[in-house]
Amino acid sequence: MPSIIDQIRTLRQQRNAIILAHNYVLPEVQDIADMCGDSLELSRRASETNADVIVFCGVRFMAETASILSPDKKVLLPVLDAGCPMADMVTPEQLKQKMQMLPNIPVVTYVNSNADVKALSTVCCTSANVVDIVNQMESDEILMVPDKNLARYAARFTQKKIHLWDGYCPIHHQLTSDQVIQAKKAYPKAEFIAHPECSSDVLDMADAILSTSGMIAHTTRSSHYEFIIATEMGMLYPLQKANPQKQFYSASPSLICPDMKKIHLADILNCLSLLSNEIKVPEEIRVLAYNSVERMIRMK
Ligand code: 13P
Ligand code: SF4
Repeated sequence: MPSIIDQIRTLRQQRNAIILAHNYVLPEVQDIADMCGDSLELSRRASETNADVIVFCGVRFMAETASILSPDKKVLLPVLDAGCPMADMVTPEQLKQKMQMLPNIPVVTYVNSNADVKALSTVCCTSANVVDIVNQMESDEILMVPDKNLARYAARFTQKKIHLWDGYCPIHHQLTSDQVIQAKKAYPKAEFIAHPECSSDVLDMADAILSTSGMIAHTTRSSHYEFIIATEMGMLYPLQKANPQKQFYSASPSLICPDMKKIHLADILNCLSLLSNEIKVPEEIRVLAYNSVERMIRMK
C-alpha cells in the first residue's frame, strides 16, 4: 500500500491539481503543498495557475477568494468548517448600514472576510499590501473592515482619516504587552516581530510589523539570530525551515488558531479522491467580489 503522501502525489497528478497552503497550517500539510505563502501570495498564485483543481489548505475565506478569481476551476477546502472568526465579525447587512452613514466613502476590506462582504467593497487588502492600498485610494477618508487592529496599523502610515470597524482576530488580539515584556526578558537578544493583527500596544513594541511571508523574508535578511514572533504558532515551522541556523520563539503559547489546524493529510487525500468539498460563490456575488479582489491584485 503506497503511503498517504504518495497517494496524494499520484492523485494530484491525475487530477491536474495544485495544493496551496497557508503559512499557519500543520507542518506535514505545508510539506506536501506546491506552494506555501501569505494571503496575498496565495491569491496571486490561485489567479495564475493552469491547474484544473485547487486544493486550498487554509480557511474558508482563502478558498473563497481563489474561487472568486478562478470560477472555472474546482476549488476544494479539505475541511469545510475551517473558518475565520474575524471574517464573521461583519455581515453584509451591517456593512450596508454603515455605508449609508458614511456615503461616498470607499470601503477597504481585509481579505479575511466573506464573499458577500467583499461584494460590497471598493477594494480588498491583505496584511502585506494594506499601507500601499490605503495610500493609493483617491479619497481622503476610508472605511476599513473588519480588523480594527489592521486599520490602526495602516493609520500610522497615512494622512487619510480611517473609519474603523470593531472586528479583530481573537488569536492575535489577546496577546498582551505584558506577555511581550516577559518574552523579551526571556530572550533579550531577540528581535521582536509582530503581525499587524496584534493590538497597538503590542505593535508599539515591535522591531518590525509584517505579513507572515514578510516575516520569512525579513528574518532571512536580518543579522539577528534570535526572534520573538507575535503571530499564530504555526508560523514557527516555515521560519525555522527557511533559517535552520536561527532561533524562533513564540511570543505566547496561546497564539494558536484552531481553524488553521483542522486540515490533515487524510482530508487532502479524501477531497482529492472524491473531488468533494468544493467552494463555490453564487455568481451574482462572485462578479461583484471579483472587482474588489482583482483591483487589489492590480494595485500592488
Ligand atoms: P497573512 O496574509 O499575513 O498570511 O495573514 C493571514 C491571517 O489569517 C493572519 O491571521
Ligand atoms: Fe482568522 Fe485569526 Fe485564524 Fe487568521 S489567525 S485565520 S485572522 S482567526
